[in-house]
Amino acid sequence: MYLYGASGHARVIVDMLSASGLKVDAMFDDDVSIKELMSIPVRHHWQGESPIIISIGNNVTRKQIAEKLNCEFFTAIHPSAVVSPSARLGDGSVVMQGAIVQSGTSIGRHCIINTGASVDHECVIEDYVHVSPKATLCGNVHVGEGAWIGAAAVVIPGVKIGKWCTIGAGSVVVSDIPDGAIAYGNPCRVRNDGKHCQPKKMGRIAIYGAGGLGREVAGGIERINKAGTELWDFVGFYDDGLPIGTQVSHYGSILGGMDELNAIQEPLALAIAIGTPQIRISLVGRITNPLITYPNLIAPSFRVLDPKTFKIGKGNIIQDNCSVTCDIVIGDFNVLNGSNALGHDVTVGSHNVFMPGVRLSGEVIVGDCNLMGVDSVVLQKISVGNNITLGAGSVLMTKPKDNATYIGVPAKKFNYE
Ligand SMILES: CC(C)(COP(=O)(O)OP(=O)(O)OC[C@H]1O[C@@H](n2cnc3c(N)ncnc32)[C@H](O)[C@@H]1OP(=O)(O)O)[C@@H](O)C(=O)NCCC(=O)NCCS
Repeated sequence: MYLYGASGHARVIVDMLSASGLKVDAMFDDDVSIKELMSIPVRHHWQGESPIIISIGNNVTRKQIAEKLNCEFFTAIHPSAVVSPSARLGDGSVVMQGAIVQSGTSIGRHCIINTGASVDHECVIEDYVHVSPKATLCGNVHVGEGAWIGAAAVVIPGVKIGKWCTIGAGSVVVSDIPDGAIAYGNPCRVRNDGKHCQPKKMGRIAIYGAGGLGREVAGGIERINKAGTELWDFVGFYDDGLPIGTQVSHYGSILGGMDELNAIQEPLALAIAIGTPQIRISLVGRITNPLITYPNLIAPSFRVLDPKTFKIGKGNIIQDNCSVTCDIVIGDFNVLNGSNALGHDVTVGSHNVFMPGVRLSGEVIVGDCNLMGVDSVVLQKISVGNNITLGAGSVLMTKPKDNATYIGVPAKKFNYE
């Protein structure tokens, strides 16, 4: 028996299984820093082990993992739970300590009926629903896919709760709730426009470049998906330097090179994960297939002080912990590779690569195809042209010449002879 997800929720499932005499052999978790939980080893590469329970409380993440794993899922009921013989329970669902599921109720796949929850007669609970501890669903309630019913909420008979809703803890739901709503209170009322918690399906995405940056971008896509507002379907990597089928870490495999990319027959979003500006620009020029689009992949931790004055083009990759202030313009196909800070009135052209820790002071203008090294700084009002390389840790204090390398503090033109 295996669990996917090594968190607090997994602890409860370990106890549940152990009460039925079942032992968990190992857990899986994407977080490589977790090595064990409750003395059970935690692995980081799933290789088909089953049966498995996805022990993750977040409904969006549980769905993403379920769609990735092609295996047998285990359905678990704690011995203290009461489940009617006429109730149906889908694969991978769990009914926890003291919960009650009454006659004629149907529960979908990968649902959580949490501690002491009560689901009365003839309810229909769709896939990936979480009914939190002590929540009470009266008879004939319908709960849509992915909805989260908060702890101790009460839903009166016959109410329909939409897909991917959140119902606040302690709410009393007396009327239908539309898809995607966040609703709470007694009586329970919708508090948002119904869009907030429904992840937007973004479609298929691939990465060109299967090196270190490629893996970082793949991890970034996973992070975006986990945040729950956008949901990408990552299909794999394109790279002209590796044979088709080569596995790239645990993210996916090589689907082909430029020829295969230009031959695809269905729409595909593409992230270009190459760290050399000149190669980035030439790659974009070689992609001729009109089915390929270039979204901005922006880490959920990205902070924009003034969204009203922020402008951004397409094909940009913004990794974790970057921040920009006000009146910022970013062109196309740039990489901000983590912890970059851009001050007021900064304009960035296209195809630039900023390594981690780059800081641009106020009113800096950056042209195209520049590479800024780790922790480099450009002082205020400097205008950087095109094809500059700024060395790691350098501080650029005067306007540089195009097509040159600058290093040091203050940064000086570097002659290779
Ligand atoms: C509904 C919920 C998701 C809202 O979270 P949120 O968007 O972060 O909301 P905030 O905490 O910012 O609160 C916003 C306002 O709503 C109120 N509010 C939040 N949750 C509420 C609830 N369940 N009932 C009544 N009012 C609630 C807050 O008091 C606050 O009011 P204010 O603006 O007058 O100060 C959350 O509060 C909740 O109830 N989650 C369920 C937790 C749970 O059951 N977990 C079970 C784990 S197994």
